Amino acid sequence: MGTPLGAIYTSNITPDRETGIGAWSFEEFDRAMRLGVSRDGRRLYPAMPYPSYAKMSEDDLRALYDFYMKDVKPVRQRNTPNDIPFPLNARWPLAAWNWMAADLARFVPRPDRDTIWNRGAYLVQGPGHCGACHTPRGLLFQEKASDETGSSWLSGANIDNWSASNLRGDADAGLGRWTEDDIVAFLGKGQNRFGAAFGTMREVVEYSTGRMSPDDLLAIARYLKSLPPARSATGLAWVYDTRTATDLRAGKLDRPGAAGYMRQCASCHGVDGKGREADMSRPQLPPLAGNSAVLDPDPASLIRAVLNGVPRLGPEAGTAPDWMPQFRTWMNDADIAAIITFMRTSWGNRAGPVTTEQVAKLRAATDPQAPLVLRMR
Ligand code: HEC
Ligand code: HEC
Repeated sequence: MGTPLGAIYTSNITPDRETGIGAWSFEEFDRAMRLGVSRDGRRLYPAMPYPSYAKMSEDDLRALYDFYMKDVKPVRQRNTPNDIPFPLNARWPLAAWNWMAADLARFVPRPDRDTIWNRGAYLVQGPGHCGACHTPRGLLFQEKASDETGSSWLSGANIDNWSASNLRGDADAGLGRWTEDDIVAFLGKGQNRFGAAFGTMREVVEYSTGRMSPDDLLAIARYLKSLPPARSATGLAWVYDTRTATDLRAGKLDRPGAAGYMRQCASCHGVDGKGREADMSRPQLPPLAGNSAVLDPDPASLIRAVLNGVPRLGPEAGTAPDWMPQFRTWMNDADIAAIITFMRTSWGNRAGPVTTEQVAKLRAATDPQAPLVLRMR
C-alpha cells in the first residue's frame, strides 16, 4: 500500500504458527484489531484500519478469530519490511498517535434511529471500514471524522492516487441522486445506472460488499442516504443538457477535447454521453453524463481510468471485447487533459478543468500494467 509515509506491506494473517498469526490468542488478536498493537508489542501503522475495527462487537471479533484459526489455510510466508524512512519508521510515536488522533471506542447504537440504520452505521464505521478510504485524513494521517457527527465523514479523500469519492448527500459528486436501490446495486454488482466501480472500489466489491447479504447492503444504503451534503454550495441538482450531443452530431468540434472525445471515446460512451444499458447479449457501458465519479472535484480516478484503462468486472471479466482500453500509449498528457475536461463540462456536467500537469503526475506515478482481470465468485 502506498501511503504518504512510504510503502507499507500488509502482513501474513493466515494461521501459520511461525510466519502468520497461528500462535496468537484471541486476546492478542483482539488487541491488534482494535488497538493496533501487534503480538510482540509493536504498534501497527494506521494503514491497518484498526480505528474502524475498534468499533466492532466482541462477538464479531470472536467469530473472525475462529474463522481465521479454523477455516483459513495456513501459508508460510515471511512479512516484507516496510519502506518507511527514518525517523518516521520509529513506531513509538504511534502510541502518541493513538492518544491524540484515534477514537478507539466500540460502536454504540443510536436510540433515535431504527435497527436498519444502526446496522448500516455499524457496518460502514466498523467492519466495512469505508471511512479508511473515503474520509479525508489530517496531518497525523488520522481520519478527520469517525462517524456521522463529523461534517467531513465520508466526504471523499485521495488514497494511493485514487480518489475515493464523496459518499454524502451532495447532488453532483456525492450520492444525492442515488436511491437506496442504486447503492445496493453498486455495492453488490459493481455497477448501476450512474456508472461502475473502476478503481480500488472494485476490490472492495469483489472481496467484501459483493458477498454481503441483501439486508446488510440495504442497511448500508439506508445509513449512507442519511448523510447530509458535504458542500452545500454545490448541492444543485444535476440536469442533463442536450446541447453537447446536438453540437457533436452537427460536427461542431471547436471546444478543446471535443474532437478527441469523438475519435477516442464516443464509439463506446456515446455522443450523448449516456453509455449503453446492459441487455441480454451485452454488458453495460457506463454513462459519463451525470456520473458522480466524473463530477468528482478530485479527478485522480478519472485520469487513471483514461491512462490505464478499466477491466470488466463480473462474469464477463476478460471476455467482453468492449472493455475500456488504456490510452497512455496513444495520447499525450495535454490531449488526455483536454478530453477529461471536456467530459467534465459537457451534457450538464459542471466540474473543474484538469491540467496537463495533473495527467503527467499520474502517468509517472501509476503502473501501466495490463488490465488485471477480477472475477466475482
Ligand atoms: C471500447 C470501449 C470504450 C472506449 C473506447 C472508452 N471507454 Fe471508457 N469505459 C468503457 C467500459 C466498458 C468502462 C467500464 C468498465 C466496467 O467497469 O464495466 C469504462 C469506464 C470509463 C470511466 C469510468 C466511469 C465509470 O463509472 O465506470 C470513464 C471516466 C471513462 N470510461 C472515460 C472514457 C474516456 C474519456 C474515453 C476516451 C478517451 C473512453 N472512456 C473510451 C469502455 C470504453
Ligand atoms: C480501499 C479503499 C476503499 C474502501 C475500503 C472503500 N472504498 Fe468505496 N471507493 C473507493 C474508490 C477509490 C472509489 C472511486 C473509484 C472507484 O470506483 O474505485 C470508490 C467509490 C465508491 C462508490 C461510488 C461513488 C460514486 O460517486 O461513484 C461508492 C458508493 C462506494 N465507494 C461505497 C463504499 C462503501 C459503502 C464502503 C464500505 C463498505 C467503501 N466504499 C469502502 C475506495 C474504497
